[in-house]
Amino acid sequence: MKKYFMLMILLFVPFVFKSVSAEENPSIEKGMQLFNSTLFAGATSGKSCASCHPGGADLQFAWVNPNLAGQVNNCIIGPLRGVPLDEDSMEMQSILLYIQSLKQ
Ligand code: HEC
Repeated sequence: MKKYFMLMILLFVPFVFKSVSAEENPSIEKGMQLFNSTLFAGATSGKSCASCHPGGADLQFAWVNPNLAGQVNNCIIGPLRGVPLDEDSMEMQSILLYIQSLKQ
């Protein structure tokens, strides 16, 4: 029984580390996932960013906004009825990378 338990831990540890390190690195892909998620930033309205900005529509000029993170938080607090994100958080940085990737 004890052996089995140790084996479980050994199998589980790398998995935990992998998901932790994945969490730490913001990426465009992560941003795209969050953008399309109705659970992003504690959203409670059943909406995702993509509900109103499908495929990132009309956001390609948003990148010139000097307070883009603030605008994203406005849309989180307002339409998503979620919890605003810290500007340095992995989630916010990923969303910003995603929006930047739409730049034409
Ligand atoms: C209920 C609809 C709705 C939802 C959901 C929504 N937005 Fe918005 N968003 C708007 C409206 C309306 C505006 C302001 C008018 C405009 O710029 O088109 C806006 C503006 C923006 C802008 C500024 C655009 C610019 O050109 O400067 C950004 C960036 C943005 N939203 C990102 C997001 C993100 C990220 C999410 C998800 C967290 C989100 N929005 C969710 C409706 C929504």
